[in-house]
Amino acid sequence: MRQSLIMGNWKMNGTRESSQSLCAAIMAGLNENDKNIVICVPAVYLADLQTLTSNSPLALGAQNVANQEAGAYTGEVSATMLKEFNCQYALVGHSERRTYYGDTDESVAERFCQAQKQGVIPVLCIGETLAERENGETFNVVNTQLDAVIAKAGIGAFANAVIAYEPVWAIGTGRTATDEQAQEVHKAIRERVALQDPVIAENLQILYGGSMKADNAKGLLAMPDIDGGLIGGASLDAQSFLKIYHSI
Ligand code: 13P
Repeated sequence: MRQSLIMGNWKMNGTRESSQSLCAAIMAGLNENDKNIVICVPAVYLADLQTLTSNSPLALGAQNVANQEAGAYTGEVSATMLKEFNCQYALVGHSERRTYYGDTDESVAERFCQAQKQGVIPVLCIGETLAERENGETFNVVNTQLDAVIAKAGIGAFANAVIAYEPVWAIGTGRTATDEQAQEVHKAIRERVALQDPVIAENLQILYGGSMKADNAKGLLAMPDIDGGLIGGASLDAQSFLKIYHSI
């Protein structure tokens, strides 16, 4: 039985001070038996938030991870570094990384492998643009993004990874995929993995991301192949984020 997972992606928002108060407000809404709730925070705030969350069910994640182990890679943060701050998860291949910073299927696969090598669970983000959806290319796009990582990491790697389906047209737009639209793609992703390993596919957590809010989360999370959410905007408000978490 798959467990649900709720992840917040703060993106490049907040200050040192506001990140700590947001984190504290989220923790205040959790009790000690809660689990499977994660915030992916700006790397520079990891140290503060590691201290703050040390006795809390709230886990930490990074928004990206380097595709190399160490060395002359200016501006990058390695998986070993993330591990030092008790980062349990790292997003890889977020559409904003792919669009604005040139992350390719190949570098995303490398990032995925680097994270996993250090015991950081990679959260592989995949999804189509509006133009691709309108051209009927959704499944092709998602399969290509997924296959690139399977080819490099091997299907076995997905026993310890998470996939986030984030249609680009739904990110930050207020335009959510309908429950059925999202379910259709999640099911296809699971079936694609199942072609190579049905057991891994059955256990794989596939999250939905893209304008998930407190008022639409319940419907999405009730779909059979939607195992959680990767939440941007609504994760910047503790009460909205907690409401999504508690709607599981
Ligand atoms: P929004 O929830 O703001 O649409 O962002 C989704 C996202 O990109 C999470 O990674």
